Amino acid sequence: MSLKWYVTTPIYYVNARPHVGTLYSTVLADVSARWKRLMGIPVFFLTGTDEHGQKVAEAAEKAQKDPRAFVDTLVPDFVSVWKRYNISYDHFVRTTDESHVTAVQKWIQLLQERGDIYKSVYEGWYDQSQEAFLTDKDLEFRPGLPDQPISLLSGNVARRVSEECYFFRLSAYQGRLLHFYKEHPDFITPHERLQEVISFVESGLKDLSISRKGLTWGIPFPGDPEQVVYVWADALNNYLTAIGWGDEKRGDAWKSWWPADMQVMAKDIVRFHAVYWPAFLMALGLEMPKLLVHGWITVDGKKMSKSLGNVVDPMVLADKYAPDVVRYYLVRYLAVTQDANFSYADLEHRANTDLANDFGNLVNRLLVLAAKHSVIEVRGEIASDEAAERLKTFAAEMLAQFEQEMNRGYFHQAYAHVQRLVHAINSYFHEQEPWKLVAKNRDQFVAVLATTAHAIGYAATLLYPVMPQTIEKLFEAFGVLVGSENARQLLNGAWWEQPLTLRQIPPLFIKYEPAAQPAQPKETPVQSNEQKTSQPSEKTVITIDDLAKVELVVGTITHAEDVPNSEKIYRMTVDLGSCGVRTICAGVKQSFAVTDLIGKKTIFVANLPPRKLMGIESQGMMLVVPDAQGKQTLVSINEAVPNGTRLR
Ligand code: MSP
Repeated sequence: MSLKWYVTTPIYYVNARPHVGTLYSTVLADVSARWKRLMGIPVFFLTGTDEHGQKVAEAAEKAQKDPRAFVDTLVPDFVSVWKRYNISYDHFVRTTDESHVTAVQKWIQLLQERGDIYKSVYEGWYDQSQEAFLTDKDLEFRPGLPDQPISLLSGNVARRVSEECYFFRLSAYQGRLLHFYKEHPDFITPHERLQEVISFVESGLKDLSISRKGLTWGIPFPGDPEQVVYVWADALNNYLTAIGWGDEKRGDAWKSWWPADMQVMAKDIVRFHAVYWPAFLMALGLEMPKLLVHGWITVDGKKMSKSLGNVVDPMVLADKYAPDVVRYYLVRYLAVTQDANFSYADLEHRANTDLANDFGNLVNRLLVLAAKHSVIEVRGEIASDEAAERLKTFAAEMLAQFEQEMNRGYFHQAYAHVQRLVHAINSYFHEQEPWKLVAKNRDQFVAVLATTAHAIGYAATLLYPVMPQTIEKLFEAFGVLVGSENARQLLNGAWWEQPLTLRQIPPLFIKYEPAAQPAQPKETPVQSNEQKTSQPSEKTVITIDDLAKVELVVGTITHAEDVPNSEKIYRMTVDLGSCGVRTICAGVKQSFAVTDLIGKKTIFVANLPPRKLMGIESQGMMLVVPDAQGKQTLVSINEAVPNGTRLR
């Protein structure tokens, strides 16, 4: 494990304002940086802007501005959004920074000296929206339009380019790159993405044009006033120049940070980072970084685009919800490993259930109860009975799993573990019924409050990287500072001895009114056989996209109980793995005893809106299938399938 943590985001093109996609990458990098700092590890967190290139030059011309003046007006948009979201970057690099420009020129000169650069003519296609040179595989030729092929990288029409330029001998690195991928399957997380890169490289690498002729908006190519450095060769080097590579005044300081430990980006720019970038580094004889590649975000199921008017502005989001709530939703519910959908309704639902109900309410109930019975401070009065010990053990075991997921960048899964802890603390608090204890046994009452408060603090420390402002407020109530010292204590168990004040504070989260839902039948979470057969018989044809919308997930029923006054319903607690632990009601009383259900693994629909059944909020639906007699049975699932696995 590295004793430092160098984490980066892509440097964003300045000509688009920050949106929920760029926010997502930046928040992931921030969460990772904050977590490492909390663990006492020295961190360098880099973000910034990519300001050169033909696209920016043309946008400046359109705005009738000098490109430099133009980019200067755009950069503050990024800085202010990151500030609003408490992005704790250590440095904001701009590719127009003098130090970056000089270092990139030095890089070109070094490569020239090593024989990696030569001058020739580029004849081919260029995708200006991606600032990418295209191979035949990246193009789709349309009948009758031989000179207007579509770039498969962006869907835009590619331009024919024929110009003299400088080439980097990328083809010479093909074998070394393939060898490197083979030896380092952990180069890219998730590792499935590495396969796409390997296929691309195996299909043959051509030398890469690293300069453009006739453009003025770019880094002047050393020794050739007619050329500027190709924007990707310029931009990729930011990860080195920002830490001081190529700057004699800063000496070897960059060596204490390089190689980068986590370079966050979406899948759209993997080729640049997983093929060109390692080859550039190999040319310098430098070590390889590690990449975290997340999926593409759509909004309410659609690609974000100006023309659809669905581009999500982070500032509008922050005004409507708190930045911490948005951060939590992005980190916990948009899985790093897949393309993900951003939905306002889902955000509100998760904010209500996870934050306002599960976490916020718990904190509130604890602090109100403590104030009511004058418990101002708890010292080490942790309960030592079995329930408290179980909770402590649960927390310690959860921490190990949490850390593992955090280290590899599976943040959504790491926070699913924290959510399990929050559920366990809620169960502990309810089972102990401290409000009943107060009259009978004050010592035990205080011990239960102390145990609950410490367990909340434990979960809160892990939530801090995602919701720094909120957790700071909570720790203020507890009279402790969130810092590496606390986090270490937490790790070694001393946390449970930490004196905590129990000062009342306003609720940490607000609840959002859910959007109107279509009327639901009162008590039918599972359709009975009779109901099914009475449905109209014509079949509705659905598309594969309709099917993909249904999140069918494997879960284990960890608890089931009777719902009094209901002929049909049981209330169950279901462990849905990364989808969390949920309360799910099922109308299956006629077919099962509770003991038939507890411990069973089966299939649940995980993305239905929650609904109230007999006053209980049901957060999903269990699938059942009738046998020949019409009795409901469970769909059986192999025990080896982990909870949270989605059916495909
Ligand atoms: N300037 C280049 C990157 C150079 S890095 C040396 C660039 N800039 S960009 O502004 O287009 O940013 C692309 C990145 O923004 C993606 O890789 C991703 O990190 C983020 N995202 C932009 N839109 C996104 C989505 N819709 N979904 C997820 N991430 C998105 O490419």
